[in-house]
Amino acid sequence: MKLLSTRQLLAGGALAAVASSLWWRKHPSACPYGQRFWVELPHPLITRSRLREVLAPVAGERVLEIGPGTGYYTLDIARWLQPGGELEIFDIQQQMLDHTLARAREMGVANVKAACGDARQLPYPDASFDAVCLTTVLGEIPGQQAALGEFARVLRPGGRLVVGEVMLDPHWVSPGKLKRGGEAAGLGLVRRCGNPLGYFARLERPALAAGQTAA
Ligand SMILES: C[S@@+](CC[C@H](N)C(=O)[O-])C[C@H]1O[C@@H](n2cnc3c(N)ncnc32)[C@H](O)[C@@H]1O
Repeated sequence: MKLLSTRQLLAGGALAAVASSLWWRKHPSACPYGQRFWVELPHPLITRSRLREVLAPVAGERVLEIGPGTGYYTLDIARWLQPGGELEIFDIQQQMLDHTLARAREMGVANVKAACGDARQLPYPDASFDAVCLTTVLGEIPGQQAALGEFARVLRPGGRLVVGEVMLDPHWVSPGKLKRGGEAAGLGLVRRCGNPLGYFARLERPALAAGQTAA
């Protein structure tokens, strides 16, 4: 039997990697709590300091973090909102929320509240947040457009949506797809930090014109 050459093995491996990443992009699903090891690894390119730069949080604001996982960004965001601000975390897995809340308690961070559910149907009133943020979450949601519509709904006029993505994530969302989806939900792209390998994008709900009232 003829053995495969190194080149053939490498080509086969690359093909398998592309096929598996295409499969995951067509089959969105939440990263299970049992595999939280992946979300606890360092997040190069989409660092906490880059998130802070793009989110531009202000003390006293009310912010919603979708899909915090085990809280890689959560405690920092909550601290950036102090004094007076509040961070709501929302995840489809209660175990992720419990894990993050336990970390917040251990670190003495008291301005974090949690709710469990699907991002395509948020339990918050219209225009109730200054900002919504999510990192490596959007591609895990089947029907991303419904979720983008919900983020736009809960943002106040002038509010911002910050999305972080890394290409190594099997559920990666490209900058172009995010821009088109945001526009369809009424959110305009304002800035992007990084490159397609790893980026944070900031989209905004248009502010009200003078004399206009929020819908
Ligand atoms: C890959 S983890 C990212 C965790 C964290 N943002 C980070 O970057 O370390 C994705 C998170 O999104 C949550 N998630 C996935 N689908 C969701 C949905 N439809 N609604 C709310 N949360 C969801 C998962 O449970 C998980 O906690």
